Amino acid sequence: MENEILLKLNKVYEPPTNILDTLFLKKGDYEKLYKESIENPEAFWGNIAENELFWFSKFEKVMEWNHPKYQWFVGGKMNITYNCLDRHIKNGKRNKVAYIYTNEDNQEAKITYGELFESVCRFANGLKSLGVKKGDTVTINMPMMIEQIIAVLACARIGAIHSVVFGGFSPQALKIRIQDANSKVVITSSWTKRRGKKIFLKSIVDEAVEDIPKDIKIIVAQREGDFYEYLENEIDFHKLMESQSPVCEPEWMDSEDPLFILYTSGTTGKPKGVLHSCAGYNLQTHITSKYIFNINEDDIFWCTADIGWITGHSYVVYGPLSLGATILIVEGAPDYPDPGRWWKIVDKYRVNVFYTSPTAIRMFMKHGVSWTQKFDLSSLKILGTVGEPINPEAWLWYYENIGRNRCVIVDTWWQTETGGHMISTLPSLPQKPGKAGLPFFGVKAEVVNKKGEILPPNTVGFLIIEKPWVSALRNCWGDEERFKQYWSEIGNFYFAGDLAAKDEDGYIMILGRADDVLSVSGHRIGTAEVESAIVSHKSVAEAAVIGKPHEIKGESIKAFVILKKDIEPSEDLKREIKFQVRKELGSLAVPDEIEFVETLYKTRSGKIMRRVLKARELGQPIGDISTLED
Ligand code: WTA
Repeated sequence: MENEILLKLNKVYEPPTNILDTLFLKKGDYEKLYKESIENPEAFWGNIAENELFWFSKFEKVMEWNHPKYQWFVGGKMNITYNCLDRHIKNGKRNKVAYIYTNEDNQEAKITYGELFESVCRFANGLKSLGVKKGDTVTINMPMMIEQIIAVLACARIGAIHSVVFGGFSPQALKIRIQDANSKVVITSSWTKRRGKKIFLKSIVDEAVEDIPKDIKIIVAQREGDFYEYLENEIDFHKLMESQSPVCEPEWMDSEDPLFILYTSGTTGKPKGVLHSCAGYNLQTHITSKYIFNINEDDIFWCTADIGWITGHSYVVYGPLSLGATILIVEGAPDYPDPGRWWKIVDKYRVNVFYTSPTAIRMFMKHGVSWTQKFDLSSLKILGTVGEPINPEAWLWYYENIGRNRCVIVDTWWQTETGGHMISTLPSLPQKPGKAGLPFFGVKAEVVNKKGEILPPNTVGFLIIEKPWVSALRNCWGDEERFKQYWSEIGNFYFAGDLAAKDEDGYIMILGRADDVLSVSGHRIGTAEVESAIVSHKSVAEAAVIGKPHEIKGESIKAFVILKKDIEPSEDLKREIKFQVRKELGSLAVPDEIEFVETLYKTRSGKIMRRVLKARELGQPIGDISTLED
């Protein structure tokens, strides 16, 4: 029995024959196109950009690179919303459903491309009426609802830079992001519902802006049953939208104009605003939705990510819309009211392409197959995973119990900084459990040592990308130095912190982060951010945070805390510290464990050696400690 499982985990999985006919790229296409994309990137991307996107005026040059700065489709004018909306309507898709929305109460809403287009135009005009202009930033803090998509697209329509902040962050975390981006407009909604309980987002926003100067305008999308009285600086989302004309000419954006910022965690205590630009980002999300998810004209596509993360930006909003797909969005928890919920939705809406995280898969694995077996999942063709390494056992469970041995799994490696998929085996190629697979077009990915030298197969090293790709981050908001670091830590390559190994076939396996960034349930959390939240508690002198392997979440957070002099350790204090982190950052960063200690391992220069703390905690060899202070 055990042998049989081992064999399955180490097997190479050929794509099932029933899928082959539906693919945009057939067997053999990858090798040819990949080679072209690397050897002649300008011709390759120039062609794709011309064929796949609408240009108001065509670019003059495909790329320009002055390390570490790069530009793509130089001189081109376009608008991503034109590619996501107008052109589909012009091509006869006015009445095609763009989004299907459902929630924990099984309510349902649908919006067609025609309706979405008009709503976006109305709301864009509404934003203009409030004085929002090209280049202004707008912060969006909303639940998974169609209004959020309208808000995002309306910004893009008029060239305002959106900064979407995940609804689960604390008021403090939201405040920092509003201030850093210098947004004068914040868009929110009254509440979201999770596990049957209302979470009041509007109050989070209220708290966040409390001591920010009052010229901030807040747009609120009220929900069923709300009768909210507005203050002077507050505007009703729907009224604003309805009072405006349904025609709004797109702002013709330069290819390189900023499209959005999205804050993400790094090794410092402060989140960084990753900046993406219009054309390259449009192209990468479009082309990967096409070639990796292979969304066909009649398919229903469901990406379970929240729009507050990059996965939501790229594969709930821009990529699939640019392709003209029908997209499902679901508000609420994955296993509420019961663990059959997601599979019931797949069954009901006949979902064809499904994209989720290893954390979710492991959670369902734990609930047992009785919750999946009772549903008809035969519509599924392609299953995706993202956010953290998928262990082969979870891969196999996904393949057998959700895919029922006749779906392809695409394990997609990418980052907030990369904008779209970078490494993932195309559906026409053999899949290997636990390995993300082969680099996408234009991506020259290598596993190297600190000096940037390529390592032999099956050796663990740093994952780098040799050259800029179309949707590479263009900057860090207000922090060009931080941006330059990405391209200077290892040779002249792009390095954003992952460890990996490449096998003899060139398949890449991602092993996790090389730096002090944790991946908890697929969400990036910087140890420094958590530590600074803990230290903000009045009784704490110092703190160090590590990630521990966790059966479902991938990693869980453990904090080592030194208390101030004369403070007595207690369980109550642990609870207070956890509360402090929740207040500063939000519930997703709250440590699972806190241990009070007398000292922390530090280097002579005073840097905490989290590596040593971690090895000790896990009972592993401690490694080189020659730089330790004591
Ligand atoms: C991790 C999410 C293994 C990785 C799109 C990366 C993965 C970080 C995978 C980026 C994958 C993402 N296999 N690890 N398929 N996809 N990661 O910015 O550590 O939230 O650096 O973007 O997630 O997280 P981010």
